[in-house]
Amino acid sequence: MAVAQKMSQFIEKSSWIRKMFEEGARLKKIHGEDQVFDFSLGNPNVPPPEIVKEKLRELVRRDLPGMHGYMPNAGFEETRAAVAAYLSREHRVPLGPDQIVVTCGAAGALNIILKALLDPGDELLVPAPYFVEYGFYADNHGGVLKTVPTHDDFTLDLAAIEQAVSERTKIVLINSPNNPTGQIYSTSALQQLGRILEKKSRRYGRTIHLVSDEPYRKIVYNDQEVPCIFQHYPHSLIATSYSKDLSLPGERIGFVAVHPDCEQSGQLLAALSLANRILGFVNAPGLMQRLIVELQGVCVEVDAYRRKRDRLVSGLRAAGYELVVPPGAFYLFPKTPFADDVKFVRLLQEENILVVPGSGFGGPGHFRIAYCVDDSTIEGSLPGFAHARSKAGRMMEEESS
Ligand SMILES: Cc1ncc(COP(=O)(O)O)c(C=O)c1O
Repeated sequence: MAVAQKMSQFIEKSSWIRKMFEEGARLKKIHGEDQVFDFSLGNPNVPPPEIVKEKLRELVRRDLPGMHGYMPNAGFEETRAAVAAYLSREHRVPLGPDQIVVTCGAAGALNIILKALLDPGDELLVPAPYFVEYGFYADNHGGVLKTVPTHDDFTLDLAAIEQAVSERTKIVLINSPNNPTGQIYSTSALQQLGRILEKKSRRYGRTIHLVSDEPYRKIVYNDQEVPCIFQHYPHSLIATSYSKDLSLPGERIGFVAVHPDCEQSGQLLAALSLANRILGFVNAPGLMQRLIVELQGVCVEVDAYRRKRDRLVSGLRAAGYELVVPPGAFYLFPKTPFADDVKFVRLLQEENILVVPGSGFGGPGHFRIAYCVDDSTIEGSLPGFAHARSKAGRMMEEESS
């Protein structure tokens, strides 16, 4: 076989979303587009704010000399300055352009961080459930993903983290608001996490870095605040993008921000810039870098996502599902009525509903609904969700009798 064995295994491991996509295409052919309720992909469906399109048109008309050329690997100075000024206000930590590296989305940001920090065998510790690509990213750079459970409401289990951090841990990676649970980690949790990492770094004689993956920072409901790690731990980095807050995931624009007091931050920033280049990105798309200069703090209409969340939450609860109401992101992570989440996802498929089993995210016994879909998909799916829940109830009764 031409394809490397490891990649063949990875294809198999990452196959849930692909399987759902194929199943969706098959079901749509049989039943028609509007009879299939696809919640499998987290593709933001609230359109970018009008100002994004206006600024883009303006930029293209301006036709600056050298507009499509190469630039410093870390990105345009003007872009980094605009991001740093905004973050300094948002996170109340003074940041300059030199603390920012502009990247190809949050995925690019995470990959350059891991490339810059991991030596072979180093561990990346991640609270579960987690964004499934973290495991592949760790492997890209010779690292090993290690997961640690969260509480039943998906908040951080700090005692479990304290126990799981070892002399091999190089990075603790958190994601808040979280994909797939929508949970946000509190100020007090981050404070305690910072203390744990300080203690453990001293104990093992090497700095453990804290990375916060936060592309959903602005997708939060009811005036929720997302606390900032920069307030609680100096050896920290933020990885993020404009994929969700400006609905631009296809444009591949994001950044890494490094805490000004991070250990050897100059060398780390040099490593991040070089990683950007040698991983093949070279730099984030130039047009998008210029675009975001004037769009700091702009966000899609978050209330549209809140309405979708609320409709689904009330519909699912009425049908008997147990779930934690997520304060952010655009995912629900309800419990499956019985332990086998893959089996329950198949029951939902019989109702033409496509979701992803929680085991794919290190959260068995649950399923993920990406509700960044049309309102009609949500409305149309509710009878099927109710029907599958009743069927599962009957199956459990039959099994126990
Ligand atoms: C938690 C999390 N991190 C990172 C990413 C990658 O984001 P981007 O498309 O900006 O690279 C995603 C995408 O869905 C995500 O959910």
